[in-house]
Amino acid sequence: MGMGAVEVKIKSDCSGVDWKAVSDTLRDVGMAYHEPDVHRKAFENSHTALFAYQGDRLIGFGRAISDGAYQAAVYDVAVIPEFQKQGIGTVILGHIRARLPRCNIILYAAPGKGGFYEKLGFRRMKTGMALFQNAAAMRQKGFTE
Ligand SMILES: CC(C)(COP(=O)(O)OP(=O)(O)OC[C@H]1O[C@@H](n2cnc3c(N)ncnc32)[C@H](O)[C@@H]1OP(=O)(O)O)[C@@H](O)C(=O)NCCC(=O)NCCS
Repeated sequence: MGMGAVEVKIKSDCSGVDWKAVSDTLRDVGMAYHEPDVHRKAFENSHTALFAYQGDRLIGFGRAISDGAYQAAVYDVAVIPEFQKQGIGTVILGHIRARLPRCNIILYAAPGKGGFYEKLGFRRMKTGMALFQNAAAMRQKGFTE
């Protein structure tokens, strides 16, 4: 799957995932990242966790927490820089959506990333409220007023 010459396999199995690569990728693309084991816990405890591979190489991922009935929230969608803009993010989001039928899906985009989600039909929320652990940093990064 994917577009152009990139042959991408999507897996939903958390076993065997290189969690350091997850942490490094999130850091490299400028998103919040944690120790590898913290990501393992987050992905394993999610309703849906998806990983995009080219061969053995992890090139993107994403996850959603959900009640499995009507509400879901998407987190940690990232594609490594050299594979961006080739449709892989769209494929990951499509697989996440397919696993959340009848669910509302919310997320907060990293500053500058909203355009990607708008192209997929998401709209900016007007009443979003957040109680962030790192409130001052999130405000400084432009996530909150
Ligand atoms: C955002 C991200 C998940 C998208 O994954 P991707 O595989 O690159 O996205 P796709 O190739 O599926 O793009 C789908 C569409 O969204 C657009 N798009 C992708 N990233 C975008 C962005 N940051 N802003 C606006 N549009 C974007 C693409 O141009 C494409 O449009 P098209 O269909 O008209 O060509 C990925 O680029 C990523 O991890 N980025 C790192 C974080 C980041 O970009 N931060 C913002 C800049 S500071």
